[in-house]
Amino acid sequence: MSKQTAIVLAAGQGTRMKSALAKVLHPVCGRPMLDHVLEAALTAGCDDAVVVVGHQREAVTAHLKASFGDRVRVAVQDEQRGTGHAVQCALTALDADCRVVLVLCGDTPLVRADDLRAVLAARKEEDAPLAMLTCRVPDPTGYGRILRDEGQVVAIREHRDASADERRLDEINPGMYAVRLDFARVALAALEPNNQQGELYLTDIVTAASRISAVRDVPAPHQTLVGVNDRAQLAAAEDAMHHRIADDWRRRGVTVRTGARIDARVTIEVDAVIESLVVLRGATHVSRGAHVDVGCVLDDVVVGPGAKLLPYSVCTRSSIGEDARVGPFSHLRQDSDVGPEAHVGNFVETKKTVLHRGAKANHLAYLGDGEIGEGANVGAGTIFCNYDGFQKHKTTIGARAFIGSDSQLVAPVTIGEGAYVATGTTVTKDVPPDALALGRTPQENKEGYAAKLRGRLAARSRRSSDRG
Ligand code: UD1
Ligand code: CA
Repeated sequence: MSKQTAIVLAAGQGTRMKSALAKVLHPVCGRPMLDHVLEAALTAGCDDAVVVVGHQREAVTAHLKASFGDRVRVAVQDEQRGTGHAVQCALTALDADCRVVLVLCGDTPLVRADDLRAVLAARKEEDAPLAMLTCRVPDPTGYGRILRDEGQVVAIREHRDASADERRLDEINPGMYAVRLDFARVALAALEPNNQQGELYLTDIVTAASRISAVRDVPAPHQTLVGVNDRAQLAAAEDAMHHRIADDWRRRGVTVRTGARIDARVTIEVDAVIESLVVLRGATHVSRGAHVDVGCVLDDVVVGPGAKLLPYSVCTRSSIGEDARVGPFSHLRQDSDVGPEAHVGNFVETKKTVLHRGAKANHLAYLGDGEIGEGANVGAGTIFCNYDGFQKHKTTIGARAFIGSDSQLVAPVTIGEGAYVATGTTVTKDVPPDALALGRTPQENKEGYAAKLRGRLAARSRRSSDRG
């Protein structure tokens, strides 16, 4: 079986981004632009890919390795001598059994696998040397224009090389081609830098192909083919992709309110509800019937079936169990594990803490490095004193224990099953199961003393205003 390989051009500097980060690594919906392009190419049926790198090649190469492993290789283009030269640089990295290449640019994150599949299929019919996508745009400035003769594509004219008449053409070259490799090798070797920029233009192979047989052109909507050159275009591309992602989930049975932002790697099950202003990032997963209310921000969070996140909760690298309830205004930091039917309420911060089934911490607490047993109740204002300035220590609370409000549990410490910690206690010693820990100063009531005190204070205040 022969292979088809994507060649993705990404050696340019991306000057207009004005950024220390390589252009193709700028994220769109939580993933570098380049990853979206590669994902589309692989989904469309490419077996593997070669990315042509130049500027910031170390960063781009390291990212590709981490993100795609062996499926994506790099070819280095030391000097950027044009798109044709870039593809030449990729040829040596192709496998011997590669027969077709799909040439793309790394800065078109909105490209869809369907359009790439169509251009590959168009080339395949009659085994044409070259097929390409085309589109009409409202403003063609800067793009290469498609020149036709009796309807057939015969050349691409770059904007700066184009005549006034040619510049009026609104059919442009989005820069995506399926090319038979044997043809590409010959046509690329024949390229000459005979243009305004003195570069080797990849687009010249279109003319060469048209001399052999008809160039297959596949029209596609311009919205999905646009390139990103600056941060305004980056924002527009991201908005478009967020719309697309939201609509995809809606069609699969998820309620997504307008204004929610769901990143590319997030997954959601049917009948989940994602309210407005929710931001779902990373590898977040929301299970069936879960409700994520207004303003929640979830990054790498697994939300169990039927769980409820009340408004404005911020959760990172954590999991929330079936039918659990979190928020409003909860903060789950990394490695928090809210068990099934457990509750974490407003102004509760958790970190590296497990709440087992049905455990509750409903108001104002810091729960760090802890384990809270099934059905235990942690009262308002409780603090796990987990840090001594050097090390973190663990707090363990047994099943059905009750921690009275405003208690401090100084870790390492264990509260036994069914134990009771009285309100306002500072716990420094382990509490045995079913024991009561009481660590506050006994209360004393002085009868009538308040009235006496009031009289004395009022007299003092009169004396000082007489003097003043
Ligand atoms: C190119 C096309 C133009 C098309 C447009 C679509 C050519 C000659 N022109 O123009 O017809 O309308 O794309 O966006 O191909 N790159 C390299 N090495 C190089 C030069 C470029 O890797 O030596 C990469 C860039 O990083 C970029 C891509 O190739 O990802 C396109 O290069 P760019 O200079 O932006 O081409 P355009 O002038 O936009
Ligand atoms: Ca460009």
